[in-house]
Amino acid sequence: MISLQDKIVLITGASRGIGAATAREFVAAGARVALVARSSDALTQLAAELGAARACAISADLTDPASAARIVAQTLAMFGRADVLINNAGIGYRAALLRARPDQIAQVFGVNVFGALALTQHVARQMQTQGGGHVINILTTASRIPIPFQGIYGASKAAFEMLTDTLRIELARSQVVVTGIYPGTVATTFNQNALREGETAAILEEYRADTSVQAVAHAIMRAAQQRPRATWLSGRGRRYVIASVLFPTWLDARMAETRDALEPPPPQTWDHLFKNS
Ligand SMILES: NC(=O)c1ccc[n+]([C@@H]2O[C@H](COP(=O)([O-])OP(=O)(O)OC[C@H]3O[C@@H](n4cnc5c(N)ncnc54)[C@H](OP(=O)(O)O)[C@@H]3O)[C@@H](O)[C@H]2O)c1
Repeated sequence: MISLQDKIVLITGASRGIGAATAREFVAAGARVALVARSSDALTQLAAELGAARACAISADLTDPASAARIVAQTLAMFGRADVLINNAGIGYRAALLRARPDQIAQVFGVNVFGALALTQHVARQMQTQGGGHVINILTTASRIPIPFQGIYGASKAAFEMLTDTLRIELARSQVVVTGIYPGTVATTFNQNALREGETAAILEEYRADTSVQAVAHAIMRAAQQRPRATWLSGRGRRYVIASVLFPTWLDARMAETRDALEPPPPQTWDHLFKNS
């Protein structure tokens, strides 16, 4: 097992939710953390809580192409190296695909794919010069399951998943390990923070949390110690993914039920024949 004592860990999306909880886990395990997000007040508060010697706040918008180089420069200025990168920042989008807006699609892909890739390029190059490192990407089962009204988010995470799996092979020779984390459904403000179009914002009972924030943060910390290829936290999510491969038609029908529950179909002209008047 790898010791995290004094390891330098760069965490994006650290202003709240999974990222903030993960920062606390790593500091408790002896690591030092560079905290990245847009909300500078929340980052400064968390850095103060964790201690000036252990944490620094880097305010950055990952959709800004200049961010990645600046984040790495600030991390090196503060700590001198980068041992672990946790690409956790992410944003959802609840929208029927025919209503999805280009600017919102660009925002989702800008954070979940392009921003994460740009930062990974800068940090992984630094890791290569140091002789190794670990990239941990926060993925989701929504990249494997066609969830109605979450197609843009799922597509962005599917792209990120493919980047993760390809990067793992490309970086293996330079001792940079790549891990994917599949958290399940976690009780954070992720759904409230998601961009949305129309009234498809409702979240079905069955999509309510099945994994705690602390459990995800702890699993990410354990992944840094054990360096697995991937960690899956939700049995339910994994069953759906297996069903998507073995029984895709069943899964389509199941997801059509979800669609109808979120957005009931308009009444048919013959419906009145079956109703008592
Ligand atoms: N919650 C779940 O059920 C769940 C399930 C599977 C996977 N995930 C994944 O887990 C990750 C964390 O989600 P969460 O549940 O902790 O959500 P969250 O509470 O909404 O946190 C999202 C984080 O991303 C940051 N972020 C968003 N846009 C950004 C931008 N343009 N630049 C920099 N940072 C940005 C936010 O900080 P600022 O707003 O301060 O910038 C925030 O710290 C995401 O990648 C999500 O896809 C979540």
